[in-house]
Amino acid sequence: MASRKPALAVTEPTIRVRRIHRRDLNKVWEFLKRVFRSVNRETVEYQRPRTKTRFLEIYEEEGIEQLLFEIHEGEAPVIVGYAECAYEVIGSDNWINERYFESRDMRPLFVEEIAIHPDFQGRGIGSFVIEQLEHLARVRGCTHLVLEVAANNRRALQFYRARSFSQIDAAIFLAKKVVSEPELLPPRTLRSGGLDPGDAEGMSEATGPEAQVLTDMPAETGESAPEPEPPPALPAKPARTRKPRSRRA
Ligand SMILES: CC(C)(COP(=O)(O)OP(=O)(O)OC[C@H]1O[C@@H](n2cnc3c(N)ncnc32)[C@H](O)[C@@H]1OP(=O)(O)O)[C@@H](O)C(=O)NCCC(=O)NCCS
Repeated sequence: MASRKPALAVTEPTIRVRRIHRRDLNKVWEFLKRVFRSVNRETVEYQRPRTKTRFLEIYEEEGIEQLLFEIHEGEAPVIVGYAECAYEVIGSDNWINERYFESRDMRPLFVEEIAIHPDFQGRGIGSFVIEQLEHLARVRGCTHLVLEVAANNRRALQFYRARSFSQIDAAIFLAKKVVSEPELLPPRTLRSGGLDPGDAEGMSEATGPEAQVLTDMPAETGESAPEPEPPPALPAKPARTRKPRSRRA
């Protein structure tokens, strides 16, 4: 009689949330770069994560929560999600008008970042993150989750809309093509052949427009001719000016 193999129990991985620790910082920074690589290619506004210096500073700041979501499949836990939120507006160069919320009796929890590992998206981790943030907001007496998302980050926008987020205000990036001509002339074909010595001699007696050109050239005195004035330099690239601005998740 054939022996029966015991059926393998298929266990789904468990996801856990914990607060970030100093020893996680480098790993989380690499994780964020990985998550936002494709998002950054599509969006004007968001180039995230911010700088590593800023990321490390955030860890030291009061009033900012940095949460890690990990699954335990093998030996070591794997970071699959990150969320960052603040109870007050942070930094001096952000877009938030706090009076907007005050006048409406809103006490927001500002969601600065949500990032799910690309290999684990679509498995409910983002939903768990939102649930966790909502829970935190309730426990801390906040009335709303507030975040900013680029309009062309379609998946994220859809994700938030499906979870009852609605638009309260937004900076919309508009662009209009300026019809213009290139600063530099296009390439052109040279005349074939060059001057042969006989033609050059004849030119010293030439009259008309060509003669005018020749008389403007330095006479052959044996002394070296003065260097011609260089033309005004064209900028290689248009100048870039940019004001630093902190962005939100
Ligand atoms: C937006 C984001 C946070 C969502 O996280 P997630 O773990 O994929 O979320 P969930 O699995 O809980 O839900 C994803 C939704 O997309 C749908 N979906 C369909 N195909 C999917 C796919 N291939 N990948 C991901 N989601 C998919 C899911 O069915 C689900 O639909 P629902 O809203 O009807 O439930 C995540 O995609 C992400 O981190 N994106 C990159 C970083 C980013 O843009 N962050 C937000 C900045 S504001």
